[in-house]
This record gives sequence, structure tokens and C-alpha cells, in this order.
Amino acid sequence: MKIAHGNESQKAKFKVPFGTVSITPDAKQLINEVIDSGWVTKGKCVKEFEEKFAALFGVKYGVAVSSGTDADALACASLYDFGAKRGDEIIVPALTFVATGNSVFQAGFTPVFVDVRRTTLNIDPDLIERAITSRTRAIMPVHLMGKPAAMDQIRAIAKRHNLFIIEDAAEAHGAEYRSEKIGAMGDMACFSLYAAHIITTIEGGIVITNNEKMANALRSLRNHGIEGKFAFQRIGFSAKMNEIEASVGLGNIKIFHQILEKRRRNVLYLIKEFKQFEKYFITLQEDAGEKLGPHAFSIIVRENASFTKDEFVDFIEANGVDSRNLFYSIPTQCPSYAFLGHKLGDFPEAEFCSDNGTHIGCHQDLEIEQLDHAVKTVGDFLRLRGAK
Ligand SMILES: Cc1ncc(COP(=O)(O)O)c(C=O)c1O
Repeated sequence: MKIAHGNESQKAKFKVPFGTVSITPDAKQLINEVIDSGWVTKGKCVKEFEEKFAALFGVKYGVAVSSGTDADALACASLYDFGAKRGDEIIVPALTFVATGNSVFQAGFTPVFVDVRRTTLNIDPDLIERAITSRTRAIMPVHLMGKPAAMDQIRAIAKRHNLFIIEDAAEAHGAEYRSEKIGAMGDMACFSLYAAHIITTIEGGIVITNNEKMANALRSLRNHGIEGKFAFQRIGFSAKMNEIEASVGLGNIKIFHQILEKRRRNVLYLIKEFKQFEKYFITLQEDAGEKLGPHAFSIIVRENASFTKDEFVDFIEANGVDSRNLFYSIPTQCPSYAFLGHKLGDFPEAEFCSDNGTHIGCHQDLEIEQLDHAVKTVGDFLRLRGAK
């Protein structure tokens, strides 16, 4: 079953929609069985989903939760079992979905933002060490658009300063870095399972880890901090996954490799076709030694272009290509973070990506003809602007 991610008018409007949700026949059958069984809250489907999801990454434990944001927040909060104190700091990239920053606050820590590189969209590893203080407990790299962050350098820094690594792999299911799986490279990895992500439960998230003590803390934290029958050991969350969501996820796990292959075909096709436009745009690239876990395809208008991002986006959207802004520099472009006292210009690369960047779909229900339509639309835009 194909369900466009968006509302009815968007479905009709776009030849190249941004997202999709795959709900398999197996999942539909399982959902019916779950309903008939009368047990719909966390039960055996959630457990099976956790085991199978973690196994995809060769990791021992999976703890399924209500959202990717909860996955991030619970992973941070589990650090209280490892000596962290409220108000301690966690390093995050300035450019990411706002959920990354929010989750750090939700867990009672302070996010410390570090600028990104426009070519990778990811945290600039050369800027991390100067952000470390005596209160830093973890680095939370985000693999934005499924592009692996610079994990070799990040691991070396974490080791030097005795910091935990929490991977925000919300957008990076299936990515690889120097033959290692993204999601298995830090102490914990957090995935969003929101509609349109590679594996989805419609709403949902999961943390995977090889550390049993972390897994136990995460299980307690998702259920109000409970330990044993009715003792509350930690300040917890209410963030459980239910059986119906897990059923959708189990169906997606069965076709994970099919979804991944189709998305990789699509993203690599877009990378190849956009080469002709490289004078005008910086786009997502797959570098040697890495494999993208394709979430979407980022397009950033270069500094010297004779048109703006808004002009470009208006044109492609009017011609049936759906898009989303390339997020914001959280500390300087999200008004909710103004109280931290940063000012525009403090995170120039993140701000540049946000001001000039967009992203379009590369999901499993897009066919080459639709990608060709997107490429032709970009070519038409450049011709009309006299840019080509
Ligand atoms: C990088 C990143 N982190 C966290 C999240 C939060 O996930 P959710 O929307 O499932 O809460 C998202 C959502 O897409 C994301 O892109």
C-alpha cells in the first residue's frame, strides 16, 4: 500500500511528492491479529520489533519508544545512570531538525551548538574540541540526510575527553561509514520511525545500544522511570510504543533492503544528474568510504548564483516538485532558542545552509521518470533565468 506523506491537496499537486509510507500486507494482517487479540499496548510485537531492528545493525539491544525525539531525549537521560548531572552539556550540530536540540533540554541537559560544514551538512569535527567544557558529557552527531558524520574524528575526540557518543541517526537508516554501520558506532543510536523515514511505524522511535545498563535505563525511562513492579527510580517519560505501530514496523523490516536499494538507486541517480548543475548548487554527495542512508536529497544554492533559494523553490514547487527547507540553525534561526543569547552570524555555515538550502524526496515510491521530471524542472528554471 502506498500512502503519500502529506495531505490530499499535496498528493494531487505534486508529481514528485516528498515522502511516502509503505504499509505491507503482512503488517495489515498483523494489525488485525493484534486488535483481535485484545492486547494493543506494548507487548510481543514491540519486543520482536526491537530485536529485529537491533539485529539489522548487529547491535544487542533495542528499546522502542513513541518518537525519534523521545529516542534522543531518553538516550540523553540515560546518562544520569553514568554520573551525569542535571545542567551538564551535550554537544550537538547547529544545523539539524529542532528535535535534536529540544530533546537535550527535555532530558535536563544544555545543548552546546557547534557549526556544520555546508558540503556535508554535518557537525564540523574541527570545531568540536573548543566547545568542550568540564560539564560536557556527550557528543551527539546527527547524520543529516543520511550522510554519515565524521565518525573517526568524533570517536577520537570522545575518547580523548572521556565523552559518550549518542548518534542521532533519525535520518540515516542503512548508512555506512568505512564498512561500519551507522547506528553501531557510538554508545547509543537514536532513530526516528516517523512516516516517510526508511523504516517507519508511522509515529515512533528506537534507541539501539550494546550496553546492557543503558538498555535497562532506557526501558525504565520510557515508562515513567519505573523499576520492578511499582517503584520509580528515575525521572521518566511516558514514551512507549504500541503493538499496532510495532506491526507496521515489522512489515517495514521485512522490506528494509528493498526500500533501501530503491532509495539508494534514486539518490545516486539524482547525484549523477545534478552534476550538470554543479556550478549553481551544492548537493548531497556520497564520498569514498561511505554509503548514504538516503532520507532525502539536499540542494543548496551557491553563493554566487544569480537567483535566490526562494525563487528556485517557488519554481520547482509550481512545477510539481515538493520540497522542504533544509532546517534552521537552531541557536540563531529558531526564536525558541533566543534565550541562549547567540546572534546571527555565530553559526555561519548552518545559517548559509538554511538560507540557501532545500531538500526533495528520493523515496521508494519515486520512479526514474519522476526524478527526470525533477531534473528537467531544474534545467528549465536555469534556462529561464539565463543561467544555463
Ligand atoms: C535529525 C532528526 N532528529 C530527530 C528527529 C525527531 O524524530 P520524530 O519526528 O520521530 O520525533 C527527526 C525527525 O525527522 C530528525 O530529522
